[in-house]
Amino acid sequence: MSKRIDVTNLNVYYGDFLAVKDVTMQIEPRSVTALIGPSGCGKSTFLRTLNRMHEVIPGARAEGSVVIDGQDIYAKGTDPVVVRRQVGMVFQRPNPFPTMSIAENVLAGVRLNNVRISKSDGEDIVERSLRGANLWEEVKDRLGVPGSSLSGGQQQRLCIARAIAVQPEVVLMDEPCSALDPISTLAIEDLIHELKNEYTIVIVTHNMQQAARVSDKTGFFNIAGARKPGELVEYDTTEKMFSSPENQATEDYISGRFG
Ligand SMILES: Nc1ncnc2c1ncn2[C@@H]1O[C@H](COP(=O)(O)OP(=O)(O)O)[C@@H](O)[C@H]1O
Ligand SMILES: [Mg+2]
Repeated sequence: MSKRIDVTNLNVYYGDFLAVKDVTMQIEPRSVTALIGPSGCGKSTFLRTLNRMHEVIPGARAEGSVVIDGQDIYAKGTDPVVVRRQVGMVFQRPNPFPTMSIAENVLAGVRLNNVRISKSDGEDIVERSLRGANLWEEVKDRLGVPGSSLSGGQQQRLCIARAIAVQPEVVLMDEPCSALDPISTLAIEDLIHELKNEYTIVIVTHNMQQAARVSDKTGFFNIAGARKPGELVEYDTTEKMFSSPENQATEDYISGRFG
């Protein structure tokens, strides 16, 4: 279920502005890839192109190719809705649908896909997904309460449950812990560690310790200056990136000697 991602010569624009320049990277299945780099260097922009989410932003466009398990997600005739089902996304702020119950939140994506599901199938998906997100034990007795009644960390795990309920191949996470307290952050990190048995995970993080703890490979993005495009400066195993990076800018950023 977990798929390799091949990005080749990817450029991403907002109108005339080149935000991300010429990224080529291979992401292995069943691995965690961390994307790091200073604010504004295009990490979120790059991440969104992995499931064509940037297309909801007026003027945003990508050139180059993103091939997931042999299928170019930008090929003519490819439906972005299908791409987003295969490649789920979790955002910085937990965003459960506030009026929906916990169970309905988990099923929201499944229902969007227009799949008719029986009550018992729905219950199975809810339990499987909440177990998968390490949330089941905490909420199994109150599946009918609003998702918004959970703590921030629980809400983020609910969003992860919603993302995995559609059985994606890849899960993208854009700073999923930046709004969470340290305990909730560790719970999400544990979860990421478990999820990589089944999914290919790409996570943007500002937290160097987190990148070092959760990821197998790390990509460092940087910008040469204001209004310059973000570029992938170095991409290697996390161990190498954090112990002996090839690039001085990588070393400066990782060791905190950086703006
Ligand atoms: N919706 C948008 N419209 C126009 N420019 C954008 C938009 N989102 C991001 N940008 C620009 O693209 C560049 C990269 O931004 P972003 O991908 O958000 O960086 P990061 O996630 O690394 O902080 C920045 O210069 C930012 O101002
Ligand atoms: Mg960002």
